[in-house]
Amino acid sequence: MVRLSNHVSKDFSYQKLSIYIKNDMPKYELIRSIYNEIDNIPPIPNYINRIRKLIIDPKSEISAISDEVKKDAGLTANVLRVANSAWYMTKNAVDTVERAIALIGLRRLSSILLTIGAKKVMTERFNHMESIWKHSYNCAFFSQNIIKMKSKIEEEAEIAYIAGLLHDIGKLVLLSLSPDLIKRITNLSITKHISVSKIEKQAIGLNHAEIGQKIASKWKFPPILINSIGYHHNPHLPPDQEECQLMVNSVYLANILCKTTEYTPQMINEIDPQVLKYFKLDTEESFKLMYDKLMYSYQIAPEIKFI
Ligand SMILES: [Fe+2]
Ligand SMILES: [Fe+2]
Repeated sequence: MVRLSNHVSKDFSYQKLSIYIKNDMPKYELIRSIYNEIDNIPPIPNYINRIRKLIIDPKSEISAISDEVKKDAGLTANVLRVANSAWYMTKNAVDTVERAIALIGLRRLSSILLTIGAKKVMTERFNHMESIWKHSYNCAFFSQNIIKMKSKIEEEAEIAYIAGLLHDIGKLVLLSLSPDLIKRITNLSITKHISVSKIEKQAIGLNHAEIGQKIASKWKFPPILINSIGYHHNPHLPPDQEECQLMVNSVYLANILCKTTEYTPQMINEIDPQVLKYFKLDTEESFKLMYDKLMYSYQIAPEIKFI
């Protein structure tokens, strides 16, 4: 099992960080490169935003939406792939965009478009980051299932999925700029049991969650999504906490649990007590029950890597 690293080990002082982590470039230069990189990340492609606008317009016809989808071959292929995935258990293959949209629904289509747009931009700019995306797909699955414990609103489950999938986009920026530094930060996090985001903040001045938050703001994502990305390691900090507490807590918990491979009784101690209380998981029994259920759903779930 991957060791969780939410707490700071007692024998470690942040002043010692400079001994463990040597920046290849001065801090100010790294921060400047990070801001440059964020500025240069392309916007979500226009056609994606155009279709999302059509979806929220009640006057739009399904045929007009599917015509727009069909203008992009990659998008068409993705929408058909989702409709034909094991999630929808259709008897016959879905071979038209119209049928695919009717099957998956407009809300799901809108989420798919947002994730396709974001992932397309990030993968075109930052290659070879498969391990981050693998973790992110798992986190998306866990976020969606965790939020369902408290909410029956389909839209919230959709947002939780996107938030889980995109929660670590800031890491892509850091890894592209200073892979060695990030490697050292990760190693230090494992040996000293300090969260990666805390070390990043100390060593760089910005952590990957804050970088991801800036990218999501640049893309004009909904505030709840921006906050879920920005506070997935610090669930107490979002400014409009009440509105986004459920989403932020879900992504926070999903991010921790999706890295584990088996239950241990110590696991509960690694999770923020307020988040446990929020989900009524503050007894070992309730926590284990939730963990087992979540893992079971994960094991039997069909693969959902559609992008
Ligand atoms: Fe993270
Ligand atoms: Fe993560």
